[in-house]
This record gives sequence, structure tokens and C-alpha cells, in this order.
Amino acid sequence: MILEAKKISKSFLNHNGKLKVFSNLSLKVEKSDLITIMGPSGSGKSTLLNVLGTLESYDEGILTLDGKEVFKQNNDSLSKIRNKCLGFVFQFHHLIPEFNALENVLIPQQIYQNQPNKSYAKELLQFMGLSKRMKHYPSELSGGERSRVAVARALINKPAIILADEPSGNLDEANADILINLFQKINREFEQSIVIATHDKKIASIGNKNFILNKGSLSLSDII
Ligand SMILES: Nc1ncnc2c1ncn2[C@@H]1O[C@H](COP(=O)(O)OP(=O)(O)O)[C@@H](O)[C@H]1O
Ligand SMILES: [Mg+2]
Repeated sequence: MILEAKKISKSFLNHNGKLKVFSNLSLKVEKSDLITIMGPSGSGKSTLLNVLGTLESYDEGILTLDGKEVFKQNNDSLSKIRNKCLGFVFQFHHLIPEFNALENVLIPQQIYQNQPNKSYAKELLQFMGLSKRMKHYPSELSGGERSRVAVARALINKPAIILADEPSGNLDEANADILINLFQKINREFEQSIVIATHDKKIASIGNKNFILNKGSLSLSDII
């Protein structure tokens, strides 16, 4: 098992007081899992992915990643574990406009490595069907192409787990289909685990484990 959340509770403090997002939530992500989490807007999907991705703290519970308890690590070793184990795909992909597609894909490597693996970045862009777009800047790419660059960027460090938050949220149906096929291909061919948060039933149906997050608790879904 590579990621385990055990009885995690998470709340936010805002001007109205304490807002409980979820409590006693447990989830295991094992090698080659393709997990989908559905739930209405505001149910806590993004918060959960941020907690699983160690980007957000939580109130109670235990989160282990690669056998290590996350919040027992100091910042330096936590960012090393995060960088090694996790890749993030956000709804708004945050590509850097001044960098071309290839340079954007290489960003996570340049942070920690002196020698970026350019040939693997090119291979990934090819895999994403973007071999003719490597030198294009984000403004010169379609929404679907930008999303695929963002997926390639999430894969560059060969993370064991990819966390994708509404990855098709701003795509039309054809591009959403392309992206979903890619996730399935990555999952099959590279044996990377993928956790996708979505409100789209069609996307949720590709998971080998499908969950619903609602009213603060996560349950296995058999509605698909
Ligand atoms: N930083 C924050 N501070 C306070 N409340 C937040 C914060 N982030 C999210 N929330 C609240 O937590 C709940 C879950 O939000 P979110 O995880 O974004 O849901 P989803 O992704 O399922 O739409 C919402 O009610 C939202 O308003
Ligand atoms: Mg969200």
C-alpha cells in the first residue's frame, strides 16, 4: 500500500465558526488503483485531495505515504516524499505562460534536480499526442492540449500516485474523453495509482474503486 488515510477529520475555521468538512474518513490507495471520488459541489472533494496530497493539514487521524507518517516528517523530508510519490492535476492547470509546453513539463524536475530528463518529457508529450506542440506556449494551445501538458507535468517525476481534481472540469466532452482515456492508459501501462475527484458520473465509472463523498463521509458507491 502506498497511501493510507486513517480516521481523518478536517474542519475549517471561518467567520461563522467551525465548518466540519469530513470526519473519521479512511481511504487506502494501493499500487495500480484507479479511484474515483464523486460528490456534489462543496462536499469536500478538493479538500480531501489536498489532505491526501499533504498540501493541507487536518485535525485528527493518521496519514501515511510510502510507509511514513506524513506529519511526523520535517518540511524538507516531507517535500522530498511528496515530490517522489505524488503528482497533481488541478482543474485550472496553472501552466506558466512564459514557458513552452516542454519547459512547463520540466518544471517539477528543475526544482529538485540539476539534470532535467528532457527525453522523458518529450516521450510523455508524445504519449499525450502532443509531439507537434512541444515548443508551443500555453496561449497557443487549446484547453484540451493545455490539460494534457498539465498531466505530462504531473507524470514527469514518475510519481506513484496522481491526484486529479476535476481534471475535465473545463473541457468539452471530446477533450474530456481524451483525458480520461489517457488516465486509463497511464494507470495500465505505468501502473501508477490515480485518484480522481469528479462530479461527472461517466468519469467516475472508470474507477476500480468508486467512492461518494457526501455529508462528511466517504462510502463505496455501487450506483455505476
Ligand atoms: N480554505 C477554506 N476555508 C474555509 N472553508 C473552506 C476552505 N476551503 C474549502 N472550504 C469549504 O469546505 C467545503 C468543501 O469545499 P471543497 O473541498 O472545495 O468542496 P468540493 O471540491 O467538493 O466542491 C465547502 O463548504 C467550502 O466552502
Ligand atoms: Mg472542488
